[in-house]
Amino acid sequence: MRVLVTGIRGLVGHHTYLTCTQSTRWEILGTGRSPLPNLPYPYHPADLTHPDEVASLIRWAKPDAVAHIAAMTLVDACQENPPLCWENNVTATRNLIDALTTYAPKAHFVFVSTDFVFDGFVPKEYRYKENDLPAPLSVYGASKLAAEWLVRQYPGPWAIVRTSLVYGTAPHLSRDNIYLRVRQALLNGRDYALFTDQWRTPTWAHDLAEGIRLILAKGAEGLFHIAGPEIESPYTFGQKMAQVLGVTPELIRPLTAEDFRQTAPRPPHSSLSIEKAQRLLGYAPHDTVEAIRSIHDQWA
Ligand SMILES: NC(=O)c1ccc[n+]([C@@H]2O[C@H](COP(=O)([O-])OP(=O)(O)OC[C@H]3O[C@@H](n4cnc5c(N)ncnc54)[C@H](OP(=O)(O)O)[C@@H]3O)[C@@H](O)[C@H]2O)c1
Repeated sequence: MRVLVTGIRGLVGHHTYLTCTQSTRWEILGTGRSPLPNLPYPYHPADLTHPDEVASLIRWAKPDAVAHIAAMTLVDACQENPPLCWENNVTATRNLIDALTTYAPKAHFVFVSTDFVFDGFVPKEYRYKENDLPAPLSVYGASKLAAEWLVRQYPGPWAIVRTSLVYGTAPHLSRDNIYLRVRQALLNGRDYALFTDQWRTPTWAHDLAEGIRLILAKGAEGLFHIAGPEIESPYTFGQKMAQVLGVTPELIRPLTAEDFRQTAPRPPHSSLSIEKAQRLLGYAPHDTVEAIRSIHDQWA
């Protein structure tokens, strides 16, 4: 099977490449915005906001499946520049769907979306299910929901993967994540403030990639929540990192929305239920401490 991975130089794209390469015989083809030499996989650069570049990409890749992972992922940057966010998250998805419909209409299209499609006005322990009603609070969340609607109109087979607070490491990242930020602070003996009033199901990029691989392998269709198994606030996540790194948890300081106003509104409680993915795909993510320990061990 020929699988085209968009955003292959990002955190999730990199892990999707690694996971698929380690456990399948699929041919993984990558794309990113810039031309790059000496990659371990066939690579074709394309700015996905340009329809002609996307058409050339699909004609080059001749994919049996596409994992569409690329996106403008900085939530506050999206809030500050909605047209740019819409171009990268909605127009880019439309361009891929149009090119696939023309050049590879049977390709399985797997789109990675977000828990930020929900408003989060639910009890802290609530886990959103696939059929719960989305109501995004931010430009980023709205753009991903709009892209979901385009994916639902793709005439070929499709799946949408919603995930939450993804963390991990990969080479050449253009943005950091909670794991990298907290690690850098704690190992330099600095304290770090994290929200106590936002609740998520943090997801190790490796587990998400495995969920994407399962969907591709089974040709699964429809909506799936693929996230970590435990509900955490950034603060409790940071405390677990301190535990694994062997430093005092007091270096993690509590912060609330009243102390610090983020540019884009965030859902207070956006944990995802992974029951459907566990039952239908056999998805089995690592718990938070196990995942942090694995990343730490690989790094050491
Ligand atoms: N990270 C999270 O916490 C989180 C949570 C929920 C959902 N998600 C979703 O998960 C997916 C992957 O996230 P991630 O953490 O891996 O993000 P990431 O590290 O920021 O990677 C995204 C990649 O997409 C590329 N890209 C963006 N716009 C592009 C365009 N117009 N043409 C070509 N490439 C483009 C970026 O390239 P450049 O570096 O050149 O811009 C980057 O390599 C996204 O769809 C995101 O919405 C992420």
